[in-house]
Amino acid sequence: MKSNKFNNKSFRLSTSDDIELSTYLEIAKSDSLIGSKPEIDSKNQTIVILDFGSQYSRLIARRVRELNTYCEIINFDSNPSILKEQNVIGFIFSGGPSSVYDKNAPLAPTWVYESNKPILGICYGMQVLSHQLGGKVISEQKREYGHTIIHKNMSSKILSGIDDNFSVWMSHGDRIESKPLGFQSIAFSANSPESIIADEEKKYYGLQFHPEVVHTPSGVKILDNFIYEICDSTGSWTSKNFVSHSIQNIKKRVGNNKVICALSGGVDSTVTAALIHKAIGDNLTCIFVDNGLMRKGEVERIKEIFTKDIRANLIFYDGKNRFLHSLKKVIDPEKKRKVIGAEFINIFEEVAKDIGKVAYLAQGTLYPDVIESSSKETGSAHKIKTHHNVGGLPEKMDLKLIEPLRYLFKDEVRHAGIELGLSKKNIYRQPFPGPGLAIRIIGEITDKKLEILREADWIVVNEIKSAGLYEKVWQSFAVLTNTQTVGVMGDKRTYQYVIAIRSVDSNDAMTADWSKLPYDLLGKISNRIVNEVNNVNRVVYDITSKPPGTIEWE
Ligand code: XMP
Repeated sequence: MKSNKFNNKSFRLSTSDDIELSTYLEIAKSDSLIGSKPEIDSKNQTIVILDFGSQYSRLIARRVRELNTYCEIINFDSNPSILKEQNVIGFIFSGGPSSVYDKNAPLAPTWVYESNKPILGICYGMQVLSHQLGGKVISEQKREYGHTIIHKNMSSKILSGIDDNFSVWMSHGDRIESKPLGFQSIAFSANSPESIIADEEKKYYGLQFHPEVVHTPSGVKILDNFIYEICDSTGSWTSKNFVSHSIQNIKKRVGNNKVICALSGGVDSTVTAALIHKAIGDNLTCIFVDNGLMRKGEVERIKEIFTKDIRANLIFYDGKNRFLHSLKKVIDPEKKRKVIGAEFINIFEEVAKDIGKVAYLAQGTLYPDVIESSSKETGSAHKIKTHHNVGGLPEKMDLKLIEPLRYLFKDEVRHAGIELGLSKKNIYRQPFPGPGLAIRIIGEITDKKLEILREADWIVVNEIKSAGLYEKVWQSFAVLTNTQTVGVMGDKRTYQYVIAIRSVDSNDAMTADWSKLPYDLLGKISNRIVNEVNNVNRVVYDITSKPPGTIEWE
């Protein structure tokens, strides 16, 4: 794959705070490493989710991992290589939008059944299981949706420790009319005679409802039963095990070679660097480029973590003037992103040249990015990065990629960070976009505007923290608009900037709602900003959800 510095297409990024950085560092040399899962211990017991296009597949994977069992999502039509790569102990068939009678309905491949491993089918996954094993699925006129009480018919391992009648969350059109041979009806509801079916001998189970959502209070226990009672998990997926296996694997893979890691200050690149540093010590060099677009106190905070907490080799590059110069007269948000990306790559190349022969580039890619980039819609793995607005390092650098967090969800990264001894304060941080304050200043970026925004943002973040809301909201920050309004201060007319406060609640940044912050808190923030920040005489609160708005203003 060739990397080009300026792609015509540009996209906003929607996941982790370090993605932008990874985007800049896109390299193409490492295809052979993809799929080899070097940082995961191949002896890990693994539950495999066969994804039939469900919204909930990631949620199921997180639930399984929260139960200390490693879990991966694969497309329903994948080949059996996972059986060789991992110690697969069971399959979960996800839900999905199809009907088994649709033309080209997604079904499970035969190798899954031939593996003789336990299977748990959820919703559409249950219908696939029934349909492929000879049962009959029918379309219902009436959809069953929402809370439903189901009743046990008989005892089963899948319901061990669960009451005879319990509430579940249903969302289905089709239902099972007749079970495949060997299956029994374990539970029923008013609308579905077959809410749970099981072939206990083969260890095949089907649930008409969603155990992974919070609206099914016994759902976690059902998953726990499947994993521990049926698949015999030993519960070895813990942050402690992950960290120690990763350290061993990185040591083995890197040997005496050198690794470089670009830091953004976000959680992902920090944990990546900490982990690699534990494995190879001074053979890791971290590079931190100050683009002058960071929030107040950030540069000092990052320097402190790396020199005091992690004690890694750190190259600090003061790029403030270069970035500001390149951003002169740039107003278009996407152009800002491109300019920042290109400048970052130039500096990174210059700095990296001085380190000598480097074999690996470390990146803080996370599992959601991997799933996203390998899904049907986005095409093959890796593509997501070239989609984005900047290209990558020249191939002449000839670096191999090392991504120790590639199979982790964000909360697992945080746990690994704590395991590595990083402080909670540095681990539980709100996401911050790669282009930084540049996309929170509407219009041209100047030193003066950066100063205004830094001061206003400092007040917002600190007041949100004092109110105990920092970890409850997804992101909370200030935006410097390019609107000036009339005000009156001390009998004098003023004509100064408007600051907007943005605070949103979200789970994944794909959708978001504006936070219902207490009026008192908003009042306090507004008062402080107008009184303490020069050149601002008005504060507004953004009450737009996403969609139709985005979280950032640019
Ligand atoms: P939007 O504004 O698209 O933001 O709703 C979704 C999430 O992505 C972050 N964001 C970015 N992160 N580079 C990044 O690294 C970017 O260009 C960028 N744009 C938005 C944003 O802060 C939010 O968490």
